[in-house]
Amino acid sequence: MMQKLLLFMVLSVFVLPVLAQNNASDAVTSDESARCLNCHYERQKKLVESWEKSSHARNRVGCFECHQADPADPAAKKGHFGFTVQLQISPLRCAECHPAQYTSFASSTHAMAYETIRNAELASTSPVLFETSCAVCHGNELKMINGKPAPHKWPNHGIGRINTDGSRGNCVACHGHHDYSLAIARSAETCGRCHHGATGPAHETWKASKHGSNWNLAKVHTDFNSTGLIPSQQHLNFPDCYVCHVAPTQKDGKDSTHNPGDRLSWKLAAMKSTFREDWGQKRLKMQNVCRSCHGNSQVDQFYRRYDAAVMQINKIAAAAAQNAGDDRKRLDAIKAGAITARLGAAMMGPLQVRDGLQKIEEGNP
Ligand code: HEC
Ligand code: HEC
Ligand code: HEC
Ligand code: HEC
Ligand code: HEC
Ligand code: HEC
Ligand code: HEC
Ligand code: HEC
Repeated sequence: MMQKLLLFMVLSVFVLPVLAQNNASDAVTSDESARCLNCHYERQKKLVESWEKSSHARNRVGCFECHQADPADPAAKKGHFGFTVQLQISPLRCAECHPAQYTSFASSTHAMAYETIRNAELASTSPVLFETSCAVCHGNELKMINGKPAPHKWPNHGIGRINTDGSRGNCVACHGHHDYSLAIARSAETCGRCHHGATGPAHETWKASKHGSNWNLAKVHTDFNSTGLIPSQQHLNFPDCYVCHVAPTQKDGKDSTHNPGDRLSWKLAAMKSTFREDWGQKRLKMQNVCRSCHGNSQVDQFYRRYDAAVMQINKIAAAAAQNAGDDRKRLDAIKAGAITARLGAAMMGPLQVRDGLQKIEEGNP
């Protein structure tokens, strides 16, 4: 009896924990990640379950592979049961395995989005309201002190977050934390979370256009979770944001981009729109997307009318701005109206063109 008890004690101390380690998750992982799972499986059950279904889990990319930290990084949490870990993941960690997506993303306006709001009035008048509005979409300058965030600085998953290793941007803004579902990254709602309302109503515009109005009917025959999806080779007859701004158009799939500015000719989000650098080439790239569904005439005529509309809106906004003098409120309303109207012309939402023009008028009473 005594011997049996002793055997049980030996088993429970030395053997059972090893068994438990193997039982925590069915996923095959590195030894380090198995140890994380051992404790974290029950603690964050839903989080771990969504990771288990990901291609990361199938490819041995576990908790440790993403959350391990350089002890010199101010975000690092040292002495974590023998590990140095961090909660905040920089795009440089993703770049270790996905260099092409990182390089393309890092060249985008998305990665620089914090610079646009760095000097916003709200940042100095009310840092906490800044962190709960502007910074949620644009990102912030993440400040950590010995593994703990400075007040109100985290959680933040804004697209242009400046990370503690000095890198810019945040892959999680579109990809989410742990399932890395491609269907989520490719969905219009994901982009629309930031691209709506007074800040630039791209989502509403697309939804109101012929491209977006029947999207729910159009998308059902396509598996948006499949790797290497090339929309032009699918039974997909309508485009959403990702199809025009991100996805590959060519059969070899090589021209997909993580910089949605790659295919834009005008810079629309300004009081006065101007052409971008190398705009001709960028426009050709977007036209390649259009041409996978339309004939040349529809595409050429669309762009001719679009250019004329942008120039006309520039003119109307400039006249209104001159009348507004240095009245900040009126100038802001005029700019917001001009952006809305141009987005309407770009993505074929007639109501946005009308609303935008009306807003310019309100700024010019
Ligand atoms: C022996 C159990 C154990 C092991 C092994 C372990 N953790 Fe933890 N972990 C915990 C506990 C308990 C907490 C909560 C207390 C704390 O914050 O220290 C925690 C907290 C964390 C946090 C902070 C969570 C938060 O919301 O603040 C992270 C990140 C983390 N662990 C990652 C890891 C990673 C990655 C590994 C593997 C390299 C790992 N842990 C291994 C038990 C463990
Ligand atoms: C592919 C990389 C990757 C893997 C694998 C991964 N994580 Fe994460 N995790 C992230 C990212 C990115 C964030 C968001 C952090 C930020 O704010 O920058 C995050 C956030 C977290 C958080 C905080 C979010 C919350 O809701 O509290 C916890 C806890 C966490 N991870 C635990 C884990 C555990 C446990 C595992 C293993 C099952 C794991 N992670 C695997 C990338 C990863
Ligand atoms: C240790 C290497 C490694 C790290 C770190 C890593 N990944 Fe991955 N990732 C992979 C592998 C391997 C795959 C599966 C094979 C492939 O598609 O290349 C994958 C697949 C993906 C996919 C496609 C998912 C699918 O269903 O096809 C996305 C999106 C992704 N990773 C994003 C990220 C992001 C964002 C980060 C950082 C938060 C990250 N990865 C960190 C190795 C890594
Ligand atoms: C977390 C918020 C967020 C998400 C999600 C997001 N964006 Fe953006 N996007 C921004 C911000 C902020 C800007 C403006 C950056 C600036 O100028 O400061 C921007 C700018 C852009 C631009 C203009 C780029 C340029 O070069 O001027 C395009 C196009 C764009 N986004 C498309 C997309 C698409 C397509 C998606 C989805 C696949 C998406 N965005 C998802 C926040 C987001
Ligand atoms: C819901 C997400 C979101 C929030 C919140 C947000 N922005 Fe933006 N912002 C965007 C997007 C998206 C763009 C790009 C619009 C486009 O290109 O069509 C943008 C563009 C801008 C621009 C450049 C265009 C312009 O109007 O001059 C400025 C400046 C700006 N935002 C400032 C701010 C400030 C300041 C705040 C907080 C008071 C803020 N934003 C809050 C998403 C957001
Ligand atoms: C603006 C939203 C957005 C951001 C930010 C973003 N991605 Fe993506 N990502 C996407 C979309 C949309 C796809 C699907 C692209 C496709 O099917 O061609 C994708 C696909 C991927 C894939 C699958 C392979 C591929 O290229 O199709 C990987 C890996 C990936 N992203 C990694 C990253 C990494 C790493 C970062 C940060 C450096 C990042 N992403 C930031 C939207 C984004
Ligand atoms: C049919 C293709 C198509 C679809 C679908 C589409 N866009 Fe666009 N988008 C365009 C074109 C074309 C332009 C203007 C290009 C130019 O100026 O050369 C544009 C411009 C933009 C801009 C303006 C960038 C700036 O200069 O400020 C943003 C932001 C944007 N799109 C976001 C989105 C979002 C978010 C979605 C989905 C809700 C979306 N787009 C859907 C084709 C598309
Ligand atoms: C995936 C296929 C697809 C792509 C890519 C695509 N379109 Fe379309 N487009 C359609 C469909 C389908 C319609 C609706 C046709 C109908 O009326 O039945 C449409 C309608 C239009 C219309 C008519 C709008 C109206 O209100 O009458 C214009 C103009 C147009 N597209 C221009 C473009 C331009 C410019 C691009 C590239 C920036 C583009 N499309 C990309 C499928 C596509």
